[in-house]
Amino acid sequence: MPHRVLVTDKVSEEGLALLKAEPDFEVIVRTDLAKDVPGLRAALAESDALIVRSGTQVTAEVLQGQTRLRAIARAGVGVDNIDVPAATANGIVVMNTPGGNTVSTAEHTMALMLALARNVPQADASLKAGRWDRNTLTGRQLEGKTLGIVGMGRVGQAVARRALGFEMRVIGFDPFLSAERATELGIESVPHLHQLWGQCDYITLHTPLTEDTKNLISAETLAQMRPGVRIINCARGGLIDPAALREAIDSGHVAGAAIDVFEPEPPPADHPLVNHPKVIVTPHLGASTEEAQVAVAEEAARLLVDFLARGQVRFA
Ligand code: MLT
Repeated sequence: MPHRVLVTDKVSEEGLALLKAEPDFEVIVRTDLAKDVPGLRAALAESDALIVRSGTQVTAEVLQGQTRLRAIARAGVGVDNIDVPAATANGIVVMNTPGGNTVSTAEHTMALMLALARNVPQADASLKAGRWDRNTLTGRQLEGKTLGIVGMGRVGQAVARRALGFEMRVIGFDPFLSAERATELGIESVPHLHQLWGQCDYITLHTPLTEDTKNLISAETLAQMRPGVRIINCARGGLIDPAALREAIDSGHVAGAAIDVFEPEPPPADHPLVNHPKVIVTPHLGASTEEAQVAVAEEAARLLVDFLARGQVRFA
């Protein structure tokens, strides 16, 4: 019987081509199943492996009683849409591809920070509405400003290198960031997160969503931030309490925010941040570049070939 790989989110053709080129591999693309639990369960009952991005929720309910499914490859970093303990309990291996979209996510973070600093969306909308508004849209330079990076993994470090190129002062926080590594990167580090909030003009989040990081940006942490701070989130929507952030923007304490990620996705029409004039929003585009999508799809395909055809498990 061929190894059957089910793909339920949009992934690059290059990755699928690698799988199709393997003898004894069959690839079934069913993006219509991403939100259809009974349909997904039925398709998984006849699949050896699953490839997803963030659109498919692979819950305990989806995984329960799956006897053929042996592996799930996440074409991307975050596995928060997969119930990993439930997968493990069912003997299903979960693998991700953390390297492929680092640069794209870091570049999107810089794009949003620059857009916030120079009012790019507001200026675009204003000119298109027939105005020539050079005074109210005056921006500010990034040079000399302080950027706080919460989470100094691959993406956080890539953002730090780029921000240093803009001659910003960079302060990083990560429980796994040593003082030596911070010095090597040319940044400062703080051992406790509460030491970061009050020092920054910009704060960007690059940490996974866990029980500990949920609502990391809350009324309490916002109150510790410098007035006029701007916040960027290209990591996970659940890291920010959106109502608290909206209140801090409305009160003038926070000058603006740029948000790429939401909980849930897509956000509801009455989401407190989406239509706010001081908030720039994008629909989870951090990793959405041609280069990153090819890289993560190819890596996910290679992980599954190694596992299904050769019995090798690789955790990147
Ligand atoms: C990731 O976790 O890899 C990113 O958020 C991008 C994505 O969801 O595809």
